[in-house]
Amino acid sequence: MTGQMSFAECWAALARIGREPVGGGYHRFAWTPTDRSLRSWFRDQAARRDLSLEADRNGNLWAWWGDPGAGAVVTGSHLDSVPGGGAFDGPLGVVSSFYAIDEMRRRGVTPSRPIAVVDFADEEGARFGVACMGSRLMTGILAPDRARALRDADGTSLGDAMTAAGVDAAAIGRDDQALDRIGTFVELHVEQGRSLVDLGAAVGVASAIWPHGRWRCSFTGEPNHAGTTRLGDRRDPMLPFAAAVLAAREFAESNDAVATIGKVVVDPGAVNGIASRVDAWLDTRAPDDATVQTVLSGVTDAAERAADRHGVTVEVVQESYTPEVAFADDLRDRVSRLLDAAPQLPTGAGHDAGILSAFVPSTMLFVRNPTGISHSPAEHAEIDDCLAGVTALATVLTDLSIR
Ligand code: GLV
Ligand code: MN
Ligand code: MN
Repeated sequence: MTGQMSFAECWAALARIGREPVGGGYHRFAWTPTDRSLRSWFRDQAARRDLSLEADRNGNLWAWWGDPGAGAVVTGSHLDSVPGGGAFDGPLGVVSSFYAIDEMRRRGVTPSRPIAVVDFADEEGARFGVACMGSRLMTGILAPDRARALRDADGTSLGDAMTAAGVDAAAIGRDDQALDRIGTFVELHVEQGRSLVDLGAAVGVASAIWPHGRWRCSFTGEPNHAGTTRLGDRRDPMLPFAAAVLAAREFAESNDAVATIGKVVVDPGAVNGIASRVDAWLDTRAPDDATVQTVLSGVTDAAERAADRHGVTVEVVQESYTPEVAFADDLRDRVSRLLDAAPQLPTGAGHDAGILSAFVPSTMLFVRNPTGISHSPAEHAEIDDCLAGVTALATVLTDLSIR
């Protein structure tokens, strides 16, 4: 009835899936063959523990200990990654959830509520642009028509990608049945910073998630020859794009926020040609919504002014927005007390727990990351800290499930 393999062995098996051949990062995009392998891994882990497996209407996977039903204590995270991502962001929460169930069984716990491990689909939004897709669809925050129409870099729609992966894309959308069963949601996650290192603690509890959003900034100019086009005749979209990158940094600095342009697509992308179009994605986060808007306005104004100067048009479209999440005080404090006054910390990273917190009591545990780095192969957690996370999660799930 245990996982039959140790945490470290299970981790090593999962670590083989979706690893990039060069650089040691992970490329685990939603609804790809790699994603299918990750889902098979999840099914196998559920089967090893006699947990019943269920896929909901939005492609999220659930492994149930006990009959699925109301008041369930749900734990889990996601298995997908950003391009060049680390091994821990997402998978640590899923693996730890399975091992927390093993630990509860070892302790002889008899839950009086059903317990489920969930693997939320497409949390990073790396392929179709909108993060937390599985939880946004389930809660109805994202309209199914809009989701189905999102396209990846090759022009494949999310609807078609889901259909190809065997999910009925016509049925996606708000899923009250799945949502209403969740009594409490607990997500364990690797810390994406160094607060726990500084505090000397292996495990912490999330207090809040900064509001954050993604905007696509599209600059359209005129393609032309790099050698023969006089500077004064050019309509080069790269110039206002560059102004936007610099403005993002400047306005983030002056507003105690963060702003990043980490993805850019240049068309047609010739060394000896002026680009016709540049698409750049702005990610902005701050302690409050007003500051996010201030940074966004600053970047937009700077981009528009530069676009005007260079005969380029610019369009800024919001792709997703998540308002501030303040996790419920009573649950957060209870969890912290259960874990010997585990420290409470806010984060600038988005999570499915943040989406769910507007609908059901939700909480998060963070596990120390000695590098503090995330969305990179350098993301890390020591095995002893991972095991401390499992122990902590088992304690929290036990408390919530015997109430
Ligand atoms: C997800 O990791 C995000 O914060 O974008
Ligand atoms: Mn992430
Ligand atoms: Mn994550």
